[in-house]
Parts: sequence; C-alpha cells; structure tokens
Amino acid sequence: MPHPPPTGDRPTPESAEVFDADIHAKAAEIIGRYPVARSALLPMLHLVQSVQGYVSQEGISFCASKLDLTEAEVSAVATFYTMYKRKPCGEHLVSVCTNTLCAAMGGDAIYKKLQDHLGENGTPLGHEETSGTPGEPGSITLEHAECLAACDLAPVLQVNYEYFDNQTEQSAVELVDALRKGEKPHPTRGAPLTDLKSVELQLAGFFPDDEQFTADVDGPSAAEETLRGAKLAQERGWVAPAMRDEEANHG
Ligand code: FES
Repeated sequence: MPHPPPTGDRPTPESAEVFDADIHAKAAEIIGRYPVARSALLPMLHLVQSVQGYVSQEGISFCASKLDLTEAEVSAVATFYTMYKRKPCGEHLVSVCTNTLCAAMGGDAIYKKLQDHLGENGTPLGHEETSGTPGEPGSITLEHAECLAACDLAPVLQVNYEYFDNQTEQSAVELVDALRKGEKPHPTRGAPLTDLKSVELQLAGFFPDDEQFTADVDGPSAAEETLRGAKLAQERGWVAPAMRDEEANHG
C-alpha cells in the first residue's frame, strides 16, 4: 500500500492560532529526540494536551503536520490510549481505580460517591465528565480507571496521575472539596500536586528548571506496604529458590 503523501510542516490556520512559537520550538525538540519523526507521536500528543487540556482537532492537525502522518493515523493513536482526552478537561483529573482489587476494597463505592458528590441537580457526574467549567480553577474531570499499579495500597485514586493511597469515601470527598477550593493537598507519595496541563508538559518531557522541583520529585516513592514482603523475607532469611541453570552450574 503506498505511503500517504507527506503533509510537511504546514500547520492548519486553526492550529496556528492555538499553538504559539514556544510550542513549535518544543515540538522540534521532541522530534529531535527520535531517529524518525513519527516515533515522537506520544509525547507530541501530551504536548498539545498541555496547551488545551485535551487533544483537540487542532492538536491532531498539528501533530499530523509535524510528524508527516495523516490526521486519521494521529486520531487512531489519540483515541486508543486513555491518557489522551478528546473533550476539554478540568484543572484536575481525578482517576478512581475500579479494577478488581480496589473495587472490592471500596473503589467502586468511592467512584459512586464522587459521581454523586460532583454531579449537579441529582445527576451523577459521568465518566470523563467535568464538574465546573473545563480549564477553570477548581474544575475537576472524573474518570474510573483500570489498575493503577498500586494494589497493595487499595483503594487508590490519582489526581493528575499522583497517588492518593488507602482512600475512603470520606477522604475522597474531602480531597475533591479541597481541589475545588484551590488547595493542592500533597499526594501520599511522589511529586507535589500541580494541575493537569502542567503534568502533560512534564509527560512531554519538559520539567521546571529549578532545584526545588527536582528535590520534591525525588521524594520517596516506595510505600511501607510495598516493601513489607521484602522486609519480612529478609528478617526470616527467606530466599527465592535457585533458577534451574544456577543449580546446574553449581552441580
Ligand atoms: S486494582 Fe487498583 S491499583 Fe490495582
């Protein structure tokens, strides 16, 4: 099948209005990290999401023109991964894990509670719907998420991909209320809270250039519960059985 003709670096009039010279420069930097331009698509989608809080049609056009892809190819990727949003998002993205373990430990109840709490006029907030005006301070987009890789700390939720472990319905409600008031409660572990657009820029590979940021991000990331099994094994002298080839080498 013939490759589609190159579209070249020709942003559409719409995308030219949305993405300024700084974003064009950042796009060039991202593309320069890869031997082939199309390999830069995932961080490029994060870059456009950092501008508008979602991947708009202008964002699709921008990526296609920069990466020599068709808009259909960019759309196919943007709609495949759940981290790329196709509707404007709130200042914060709250992701509640409702996968098996978290669900059984209270995740389903937390999600339902937040749906009701963030909804209006008795209508619960739906998946990927936003409470407040998208992009405005205190606005929150709610989603249910698959396993967030923190099952030992279930039930968990994330705000802008930072972890809040061992949640309850009450702690989750207090958390979103604080976010709506403009507060930034510190996650259980990892980096301090910012907002979704700032995190999207980081996911595109651009980090604040200051020592405090580095120090904050370098904070502890392994929780007590995560390390408990390894500590217990150490105390009791438990070791994993040798691999077969190790046994053969040692006769
Ligand atoms: S099931 Fe929720 S983090 Fe794994």
